[in-house]
Amino acid sequence: MKPGVPQGDDFLILAGGEPDKSCVSIDVGHHRIMMTEGDSGAADFDWEGRYRDDTARWDKGAAVPALTDWLDTLETPRTGKVVVPGCGRGHDASAVAQAWPDAEVLGIDLSDTAIQEAKGRYALPNLRLEVADYFEQPGEEDLTAIIEHTCFCAIPPRLRVVYRDTAARRLQYGGLLVAVFYLHPIETEDDPDDGPPWGSSVPELNNLFDAATFEPMLSRVPKHAFKGRELRELLRVFRKIAPEPNRFNEQ
Ligand SMILES: C[S@@+](CC[C@H](N)C(=O)[O-])C[C@H]1O[C@@H](n2cnc3c(N)ncnc32)[C@H](O)[C@@H]1O
Repeated sequence: MKPGVPQGDDFLILAGGEPDKSCVSIDVGHHRIMMTEGDSGAADFDWEGRYRDDTARWDKGAAVPALTDWLDTLETPRTGKVVVPGCGRGHDASAVAQAWPDAEVLGIDLSDTAIQEAKGRYALPNLRLEVADYFEQPGEEDLTAIIEHTCFCAIPPRLRVVYRDTAARRLQYGGLLVAVFYLHPIETEDDPDDGPPWGSSVPELNNLFDAATFEPMLSRVPKHAFKGRELRELLRVFRKIAPEPNRFNEQ
């Protein structure tokens, strides 16, 4: 087992100590996780510093091919409100805004430097770029799609269940979660990609995105990938579905 890669349900449980009063608890199935209120994960990794020092080596200067290929396959562009969390310098958010001209696309990132650079580079009438925490943003609900690329693996494992619940809350029924997951991006000496510090795995994804809320629509290893990321990405599309009606109330 690789260190840092959550296995099975383990990632749902926070290790160590009694929670203090600033913690909130969230019930997830038969688990209870604790998180500090307002915890964006920012304290766990210096994202802003990496953009400021120009050492954001995960940034390939273009939208990820898995996403642009998928956008090309769609016959009908989507409309409505779309959020691209952890958009960095905005390449993927801009690709979505171009492909879906009637959608309102909002790219968000914790890093002010990344967002300023994105604004300098991409100006489209249906694209907004804002410094924001994915877990916050009241009012940004009723989304028709959430589209992400290497955001999930940037979220510390203890917050991933909150990431999932945020997507479930923000999406309207029928809304899509489109994710290009980067599997096992743990830095090693021979990893020129210098990926985010936490891994993710297929079992973790299968466990987390329960089919009762997230109907799986597509899961594939993309044909085209950035150099060095071949076979390490997974494109998944989920559709948020309404809860099953309570059988006992059905007549
Ligand atoms: C690995 S980078 C990927 C950036 C971009 N998607 C790309 O591929 O170039 C992860 C990004 O997620 C952002 N991020 C991490 N936690 C976040 C949060 N809670 N809310 C918004 N953005 C977050 C980081 O600042 C960083 O830009």
